Amino acid sequence: MTLLVTGGAGFIGANFVLEWLGRSDERVVNLDALTYAGNPENLVALEGDERHIFVHGNIADRALIAGLLAEHQPRAVVNLAAESHVDRSIHGPGDFVRTNIQGTYNLLECALEYWRGLDAAANSGFRFLHVSTDEVYGSLEPDSPPFTEATAYQPNSPYSASKAAADHLVRAWHHTYGMPVLTTNCSNNYGPLQFPEKLIPLVIANALAGEPLPVYGDGMNVRDWLYVSDHCSAIRAVLANGRPGEVYNIGGWNEMPNIDIVNVMCDLLDELRPRAEGPHRELISFVKDRPGHDRRYAIDARKIERELGWRPAETFQTGIRKTVQWYLEHPSWVANVQSGAYRRWVDLNYRQGS
Ligand code: NAD
Ligand code: TYD
Repeated sequence: MTLLVTGGAGFIGANFVLEWLGRSDERVVNLDALTYAGNPENLVALEGDERHIFVHGNIADRALIAGLLAEHQPRAVVNLAAESHVDRSIHGPGDFVRTNIQGTYNLLECALEYWRGLDAAANSGFRFLHVSTDEVYGSLEPDSPPFTEATAYQPNSPYSASKAAADHLVRAWHHTYGMPVLTTNCSNNYGPLQFPEKLIPLVIANALAGEPLPVYGDGMNVRDWLYVSDHCSAIRAVLANGRPGEVYNIGGWNEMPNIDIVNVMCDLLDELRPRAEGPHRELISFVKDRPGHDRRYAIDARKIERELGWRPAETFQTGIRKTVQWYLEHPSWVANVQSGAYRRWVDLNYRQGS
């Protein structure tokens, strides 16, 4: 049996593939375009492992995808490939439209043709699992209930709009063509291997370099944080037992304002890597807000808990400690991803008054 995973050199994809092959001998064909966010170093542990077939390519490449499906006959496609960073989507939405919308469309088209050609047993077992985000639901008021699977889509950023468009295509391929799709909408992830453009790894990398810790606006935007391996276990649960055509929200019931996240991390760093000049909180710097910055996300995860028995294994306290420790133990991973291209991004996004 084989899985076709897309985006498996990125943060969640690499964690997913590493965990998958740590738990089962089912082969993984891992297709990744190796954009700035795709890092082959994330997969070094799988070098020489015949169960892992890495393919450097784009989900929007029709001939490539059709060829991979025909050659490897996967029982499922798990689509994690995406442009994933809200700030980058504000500076340049084109790649988000091309990968998140057109790329997903291409995967659906190829998968539909492949699925229709399968024999009866393979056809009924096939799944197309599309990994999406809670950001498609838009921004919550402080006292609103968390997002359920029935919450109306109200995406506000080019990133979330492109993910919402992809989710709608996936839904339509089920309703129109009967394709056995599954969609997951997860809250903010954190953990090992996350590119230091996102809040949590950025704070760790900057703190270790003695640089300012940029907090957008008043720091009171709320996100619902989930440790990455809990997202991976949820994807496995949905793939194994999710009902085709259904959507599953994934979250850890852990809403926190950004400033609280940064303070917790500063205190952890004070304990694990004290700074001679003073506490890490002294590095916190409130900067100009992100345009259109969504105020609050929160996930109601009762459906996946009830139907699939999924629960997160980590609390925020245990997950953030593991995360900080991982970054402290892997300084060369951080140094390697902080390439010239990364420095240019930092200059563009955080330059004075931008
Ligand atoms: P990431 O940016 O770290 O990784 C994305 C990966 O996709 C990279 O390896 C990149 O090279 C690859 N990729 C990009 N464009 C591609 C293309 N056209 N063809 C093939 N590969 C391509 O992202 P992530 O944080 O690991 O997110 C993975 C998925 O999970 C995304 O779909 C994202 O929307 C979703 N998600 C992320 C979070 C989060 O907090 N990070 C939360 C919920 C959902
Ligand atoms: P991010 O990690 O980019 O995830 P998302 O925008 O998808 O939720 O940001 C998480 C929160 O942290 C978000 O409210 C924006 C905020 N943030 C900062 O305050 N400073 C930063 O430098 C970054 C990257 C994010």
